Amino acid sequence: MGFALPKFVYSGPGVHFPARYYLLVVLLILLTHFLFSHLHEEYSKATSLTQLAPWIQSHSASTQCVGADTDTESVWGTLEGDQYPRAAHKPQIGRANATFVILARNHEINDIVQSLAEMEHTFNHQYHYPYVFLNDLPFTAEFKERTSKVVSGKVSYGQIPHDHWHQPPTIDEERARKSREDMVRNDVIYGGSVSYRNMCRFNSGFFFRHELLQQYRYYWRIEPGVNFFCDITEDPFVFLQENNKVYGFTISMYEYESTIPTLWETTKEFIRKHPEYVAKDNALKFISDDRGDSYNMCHFWSNFEIADMDFWRSEAYMKYFEFLDSKGGFYYERWGDAPVHSIGAALFAKKEQIHFFKEIGYRHNPFQHCPQGALHTKGKCWCDERNNFDYER
Ligand SMILES: *[C@@H]1O[C@H](CO)[C@@H](O)[C@H](O)[C@H]1NC(C)=O
Repeated sequence: MGFALPKFVYSGPGVHFPARYYLLVVLLILLTHFLFSHLHEEYSKATSLTQLAPWIQSHSASTQCVGADTDTESVWGTLEGDQYPRAAHKPQIGRANATFVILARNHEINDIVQSLAEMEHTFNHQYHYPYVFLNDLPFTAEFKERTSKVVSGKVSYGQIPHDHWHQPPTIDEERARKSREDMVRNDVIYGGSVSYRNMCRFNSGFFFRHELLQQYRYYWRIEPGVNFFCDITEDPFVFLQENNKVYGFTISMYEYESTIPTLWETTKEFIRKHPEYVAKDNALKFISDDRGDSYNMCHFWSNFEIADMDFWRSEAYMKYFEFLDSKGGFYYERWGDAPVHSIGAALFAKKEQIHFFKEIGYRHNPFQHCPQGALHTKGKCWCDERNNFDYER
């Protein structure tokens, strides 16, 4: 067996990419590369030519776990979920067992309503799927008022249980603190933040266990301040459901190695203990260029996800998450939910269960996926076709 990338990697209209844009794209990539190389030494390492091929991708600053960089002391330990049916909330038309999931803080309200408005405009005004908002603190009346007003589906607001969010007592804080300080010295993005780590751990292993999400199977993750560029004419939830897919993405890129130095060794240790969980026909080739010896840092950019929570709830993934959590890497290092979800999906699902939603135009600063050619026209996309970082060949 050679090293052809999994099939989904190739899906894309790129073969028809107009030739005159090549030069522009190449210039753009070179310019960005140049900028990043000067900003981050690691970027230069991670994008040496051998690593880039056969992907032409950009490196991310691990923005997949977006959140405020402040630690909040929460005295709340109970779940709280209030539902808001308003006159504007219509009965669900979409056929899938699905919801939007939004992890947000009260001060992010302006960016949240903008994301919601674009989601409604491009998709949900025809489907009225519900929204679940989660926060480690109670949502304010203003937050509930403004968010519930802009959407067409029913909304509910929940608080995250204390233990699902905060650093567990089993973590040696002295060791964790040393590691944070080291990362700050080495300019690792969010390296000094505990709340960022809480969020990565929560997104990796807890959100799908929240009381308000139990009744749902599929979810679409939405973050503050993201853009949806194109009319979505086929229901992605129904697509996953009918095709037995478990994970959908729009952008993939490389992770900073310094945030996950032992993640792959830990993963291999888990797999040695539990070879039975690894799916036949998995997508190992997406995450490893040497048959699993090392991790190539490729991950799906998880600030966008349309996926199956029952997959995360499965024994394979739950055991994997618990094993990772027991090693403390979310705090002793800075494991992100993007590599954790990506490795989980690549190993425990079949590769054809992972789907590239190439028709969904999406931006999360500083990167965007802008559908190309016929898809751009079909979706009435308002993004600039030439600005497409997850460049397809
Ligand atoms: C939706 O999915 C969840 C999780 O699998 C399940 O518990 C629930 O019964 C499903 N609801 C419907 C209406 O099928």
